[in-house]
Amino acid sequence: MNDERKEIAITIINAGEAHVVKTYLHQYRNLMVLLNNSIYLENFGECGGQGRCATCMVKAVGLKGNANVMERNEAATIGKAALADEPIRLSCQLLINEDLNGAVIEIAGE
Ligand code: FES
Repeated sequence: MNDERKEIAITIINAGEAHVVKTYLHQYRNLMVLLNNSIYLENFGECGGQGRCATCMVKAVGLKGNANVMERNEAATIGKAALADEPIRLSCQLLINEDLNGAVIEIAGE
């Protein structure tokens, strides 16, 4: 199968409801863009994916491979805003690829 057309299924939990969203490799620039296109989320992704505003934080479980690696900018932004023992990530820093297939992404509460 062509990698470009390989389906990637991500479970999204928003306001206590779970939905499976299916997408393809690089169909969206990153997970923040996918979430903004799939669900109406107010004030989500305000810095446009620069990794600075922390409004795109999600709880991410089941990430694989390189998706588990945080760049310094992401770690610093999350460090200012999140609880240390939660699997919190900036959705704008997660690329849509095989490493997200099967992941469970929960929209962080307000
Ligand atoms: S969109 Fe601002 S940190 Fe992700």
